[in-house]
Amino acid sequence: MTQDELKQAVAQAAADYVATNVPEGSIVGVGTGSTANFFIDALAPLKHRFKGAVASSEATRKRLEGHGIAVLDLNEVDTIPVYVDGADEIDAGLNMIKGGGGALTREKIVAAVAQTFVCICDASKLVNVMGTFPLPVEVIPMARAHVARELQKLGGTPVLREGFVTDNGNLILDVRGLSITDPKGLEAQINQITGVVTNGLFAIRPANVLLLGTPEGVRRLP
Ligand code: 5RP
Repeated sequence: MTQDELKQAVAQAAADYVATNVPEGSIVGVGTGSTANFFIDALAPLKHRFKGAVASSEATRKRLEGHGIAVLDLNEVDTIPVYVDGADEIDAGLNMIKGGGGALTREKIVAAVAQTFVCICDASKLVNVMGTFPLPVEVIPMARAHVARELQKLGGTPVLREGFVTDNGNLILDVRGLSITDPKGLEAQINQITGVVTNGLFAIRPANVLLLGTPEGVRRLP
């Protein structure tokens, strides 16, 4: 199976999860990226079953609307039963690195509101220790150099994502070389640096369910 076929299989499994677990008339939270795009396509035939979606990026909003799915402002929504999104890396504790697509801040906000975070990944994303994928950090533009220096003090090598501006008008530093043995602690520590909007570690609020696409089929953890 190709990586895209694995992504499609987990996306369909996530749509089945939504159909089974989300009460009719609810709001679905929708992530960003190529796996999330397959999920949006798989969700479209079910659109009559839910009230609408909250999008974690402008790209996702456009794709949802392209399928005729209503996109709601998060501020108009009290509760999101399920948020479905991909990840760049995930460990056995369902801690993740996200933000390869640069949507980490809105993803983290939607995840904070969601009751259940369903992560959808192909098998290549499951790792023992995170950190091979560079950790994205969203920064306020005037703080870029300051934040880069602070990240170096933590042992990282930050590189500006060239030509990229987030949906929030900010920049991304991609940080290599961090030792991520304490994902929760590192997430909190980086978020304390003045000028950081948020970083791509999702450990304080990890996923609740992982649907993993493998050549043998979709595995569910736990
Ligand atoms: C975007 C993300 C994505 O979920 C992550 O980059 C995975 O993307 P893909 O499904 O394309 O591999 O965090 O900000």
